[in-house]
Amino acid sequence: MAELKLEEVYYQYQKTGQQVLKGVSCSFESGQLCAVVGPSGSGKTTLLSLMAGLDRPTVGDVEVDGERLRDMDLDDYRRERISMIFQSFQLFPLLTVAENVCYPMELNGVKKKEALPRAIELLELMGITKEKHKRFPSQLSGGEQQRVAIARALSSGAQILLADEPTGNLDEQNTGHIFRILQNLAHEQRYCVVIVTHDLQVAEMADRVFRMRDGVLVEEVA
Ligand SMILES: Nc1ncnc2c1ncn2[C@@H]1O[C@H](COP(=O)(O)OP(=O)(O)OP(=O)(O)O)[C@@H](O)[C@H]1O
Ligand SMILES: [Mg+2]
Repeated sequence: MAELKLEEVYYQYQKTGQQVLKGVSCSFESGQLCAVVGPSGSGKTTLLSLMAGLDRPTVGDVEVDGERLRDMDLDDYRRERISMIFQSFQLFPLLTVAENVCYPMELNGVKKKEALPRAIELLELMGITKEKHKRFPSQLSGGEQQRVAIARALSSGAQILLADEPTGNLDEQNTGHIFRILQNLAHEQRYCVVIVTHDLQVAEMADRVFRMRDGVLVEEVA
């Protein structure tokens, strides 16, 4: 079981003084795929970054399974408890595709000999064929890089999966394929999955939909 809870979270970017989040309260649970929608610039990525422990709220708390992130070591949290798929992929440019996917496993102490077959399995699940595993990310298309980023996020086995526009660069067929994989993780393996998306068809298939508006997050009633 995994649950992420936000309590009256405010966030202001220090450099610009812009107040982006203005009292976000909500919770995301195991077994559900939740979608977050909202206009560009409304704070969706900012919200995911706080849930991923990349930064701390200016005011308010993020809790994982009842424990406040402010009381935890964020490096441990990021390595062990959550996986994030970034909007801009953030693949390591000097590592090959397979090495990128092995990386989170190796950070968690998995030996290369065990990490590599798992990486190959995940890449193939994402439709990245073997001849591409030894390439560098720059030698792939945008959609292929996105699918490698998803494989890398799944490799750690963390039960909370945060994905920023995971299907943003994919065609319809791949969007459906990736969505079903994420849905399956939520429904069959009890992952807590939160995806940010601009694709309303994707949002409609989610179990719950939240809309970011004027710095707060409101759940849409179906
Ligand atoms: N590092 C930063 N420093 C200062 N301001 C930032 C920073 N990152 C984002 N912002 C600002 O914060 C606001 C929210 O940005 P955020 O990236 O969270 O939006 P978003 O909802 O993810 O948008 P998009 O749909 O375009 O990805 C925007 O107005 C943006 O300009
Ligand atoms: Mg964003």
